[in-house]
Amino acid sequence: MAKAKIQFPRGFLWGTATAAHQVEGNNTNNNWHAWEEAGKTADKSGLACDWWGGRWREDFDRAAETGQNAHRLSVEWSRIQPARDRWDENALDHYREMLRGLRERNMTALVTLHHFTNPLWVEETGAWENDETPELFAEFVRRTVDALKEYANLWVTINEPNVYAYSGYVEGTFPPGKKDLNIAFKVMVNLVRGHALAYKAIHEVQREARVGMAHNYHAIAPKKPKSPLDAWVAKAQSSVFNDLFPNAAQDGKVKFLWKNVNLPEAAGTQDFIGLNYYTRAYAAFNVKMAGELFGKLSFLEDADLSATGFISNDPAGFGEALKWANSFGKQIIITENGVEDAPDEMRPRYLAQHIQELWRAVNFGIPIKGYFHWSLVDNFEWERGWTQRFGLWELDVKTQKRRKRKSAAFYEEICKTNSLSSEMVKKYCPEVIEKIFPD
Ligand code: FCB
Repeated sequence: MAKAKIQFPRGFLWGTATAAHQVEGNNTNNNWHAWEEAGKTADKSGLACDWWGGRWREDFDRAAETGQNAHRLSVEWSRIQPARDRWDENALDHYREMLRGLRERNMTALVTLHHFTNPLWVEETGAWENDETPELFAEFVRRTVDALKEYANLWVTINEPNVYAYSGYVEGTFPPGKKDLNIAFKVMVNLVRGHALAYKAIHEVQREARVGMAHNYHAIAPKKPKSPLDAWVAKAQSSVFNDLFPNAAQDGKVKFLWKNVNLPEAAGTQDFIGLNYYTRAYAAFNVKMAGELFGKLSFLEDADLSATGFISNDPAGFGEALKWANSFGKQIIITENGVEDAPDEMRPRYLAQHIQELWRAVNFGIPIKGYFHWSLVDNFEWERGWTQRFGLWELDVKTQKRRKRKSAAFYEEICKTNSLSSEMVKKYCPEVIEKIFPD
C-alpha cells in the first residue's frame, strides 16, 4: 500500500486536558471531597496524581518531551478562596508557577475556572441553586484571572454545565445527589448567569482574552432508524442535553422542556466553542421512562466498547459533534476527547479514528484551533474513582509511578509531525488501517 498522510494546519494546538480535583490530591475543602467521604464514590481521590505536591513538573515534562504544545488545566476555587472572606495568595502563586512551567516548556495554557467542584462554603449555601452564586463565582473569576493573566489568555468559564446539572440534579450521581427537574432548571439558569458574568469579568481584566465554555456533546441517534418514536426521542434528548447552554450563550434564552427564561446579558458570551466529545448512544422510545424523556439509551450490539463498557468508539459521532459545534459560527477547540482503557487496547484506534474525523472537519473548513486529549495521566474519575483509566500514562496510585502507554508514543508521533500517517496507523492500530487509509 502507498504511504499516506493527513496533515494539520501550522500552529495547531496539541495537548491533553486535566482538572484540579482529579489530579491535585488532598483537595479537602470542596463538595467532591465531602461526597467521597460520604461513601458516594467507588474510592477516594487521596493524593490523586500529587500535582499539588509538585508532580505536575514531571508530568508537564512528559507532555513537552512528547511534542505537546498546549495543556488544559483547571484551578480549584476552594484553594484560592477557602472561605467567603478569605483569599489564599499562596494558592494563586502555586497556579502562577504551574502556568509559568507551561510557558517555560513552550506550551500554551488553557485554564478552566470551574470544573465540577465548589468550595464547601459555596456548597453549604446551596451552590448553584442559590441566586447569589453567579456573582460570587464572577468575583472569584475576576481575581483569579487578574492574578494569572500574565500566563494565559484562553479561558473556559465552566466545564460541562449540562453534565454538572444533569448528574447532580437529575441522575443524582454527582453532589448534591438530587433528582428534581425544577431545581435542575434553577441550577442551569444560574450556571448561564455565572458564565455570562464571568465572561464579562474576564474581558474587563484582560482585553485579549478568548473565553468559552467546554460543552459535552453527547451524540444520540434513534435505536431503530425507521421508528418515528425513536427518532423523536433521540432528537428531544439530544436537544435538551446538548443545546441549552450554547444556545443560551448565543441568544440569551434559556429553554428547558416547557420552561423558558430570558437572560439578555448572556447573549454573545462565547469567543470560542469548547467541545468535549466521547461517545454516541442510541435512544429507544419507552413509555415508562418519563423522567428520561421517554427514551432508553444504550449502545448498539456490535459496538466497539471501552474497558468498562462506558464508551463506544464512534468517530462518526465526533464528526456530527464538530458540525454541531460549527453551527454556532465560532472558532472551536476540542477541550476533551478520549477513552477509558486500562489495557490500552482500544485507545490507539479510538485516537486514530477520532483524529481522522478531526482532520476531515478541518479540511472541510471548520475553524478548529486545537485538540486536547483526555487525559495526560490516569486520574480520579469522579464517582467512578480509579476504576476508569483515561491516561496516556498509566498511574500506580500507591507508588505514584507513571508508565508510558503505547498510546502516548502514538500521540507523540501525531503531535511531533502535526499529522497522522498510514505508517503510524500500521504501527499502533493496524486493525483500522483499511478504515482510515483504504487502498
Ligand atoms: C468529562 C469530564 C472530565 C472527565 C471525562 C472523562 O465529562 O469533564 O472531568 O471526567 O469526562
